[in-house]
Amino acid sequence: MNPVRSRPARRGVLAGLVAAGLTACGRPSRGQPAAFEAAPLKSVANFPVGCAAPTGRLGDPAYADLLAAQFSQLTPEWEMKMEYILQDDGSLRFDAPDALAAFARAHGMSLFGHNLVWYEQNPAAFQRLDGQGAAFARAYDGYIAAVAGRYRGQAVGWDVVNEPVAEYGDGLRECLWSRNLGQTDYMRRAFEQAHAAAPDAVLFVNDYNLESLPKKRATFLSLAEGLLRAGAPLGGLGTQCHLAADFEPGAVTTAINELAGLGLPIHVSELDISLNHARAPLASRDELVDRQARLAEEVGEAFARLPRSQRFSLTVWGLRDGDSWLRTPQWNPNPPWDAPLFFDDDGRPKPLLGALERGLAV
Ligand code: XIL
Repeated sequence: MNPVRSRPARRGVLAGLVAAGLTACGRPSRGQPAAFEAAPLKSVANFPVGCAAPTGRLGDPAYADLLAAQFSQLTPEWEMKMEYILQDDGSLRFDAPDALAAFARAHGMSLFGHNLVWYEQNPAAFQRLDGQGAAFARAYDGYIAAVAGRYRGQAVGWDVVNEPVAEYGDGLRECLWSRNLGQTDYMRRAFEQAHAAAPDAVLFVNDYNLESLPKKRATFLSLAEGLLRAGAPLGGLGTQCHLAADFEPGAVTTAINELAGLGLPIHVSELDISLNHARAPLASRDELVDRQARLAEEVGEAFARLPRSQRFSLTVWGLRDGDSWLRTPQWNPNPPWDAPLFFDDDGRPKPLLGALERGLAV
């Protein structure tokens, strides 16, 4: 099968089109780029389609309307992480995550929790307990129970452990959590605590570069098997899909299928497709935009072809190009500005959205 082959769109679904930047007669108005038409993303998928969002944007009606019109699920982009919730004195703040949860409820969207334990976040309240055995374990259990428990009944899933595999797949990451609680044990324990606090939530281990690094994917899969053997209530596998436009055709399909081979639900959890991170010297910007679309179609198709019970959801990591983490000075200090998402800076649907939808409609 050629995974990037174009397929005809599902006409019935794609008939209800939104037109952005069109004049009444359907032609682009003078001076505006040609408009692209696409059905709302959530209308072409028979599983939840999610978007990562921060509270900071929700007050902007254009943002909020677009988010609610296009997506059926919401992942807090940053404010449900330990770094935000856990204060130096050990207290918890839930203002922002509660606001995101309320937005989801008010707009009929499901909520996906991201994340409980991440090697990258080591708040002071835990650093103080480093090396203190039982006290560390008590605080760890307490944090997970409090956060997962707060959204019990609302969060349909959680990234319980985020990015546990070493950068290139040589084993697992050493971190504050593994040092204090043991390498697989910190994860097993987190899953057990999360399950006790939120028994209905599907619990995920989530990682990145699983599409580009077969070795990392193999380590990720054996970790998942090990957790299941140890009795952890692991319910699904998250593959972030932070991709670059010149990514080798077929590799994403292989990765998604291999991950699904374990039999658990799959979450494409943080999809974006960077133009700036492409390395192929051949690529002009136009060529990259074209490759980007073919890759989006491939992701959509690979996901849509999974058995129904394994299509947990597909989440994109930000709403408009200008909202993307890949546009922040850390990643993109100078032009050209990256355009890794499915709506442009003004919130208009891009041809990239159409490509994803074509893939999803197989
Ligand atoms: C990023 C967010 O997009 C940023 O807003 C935040 O400042 C840092 O984290 N992998 C993950 C996500 O699992 O949590 C990261 O999100 C992107 C990489």
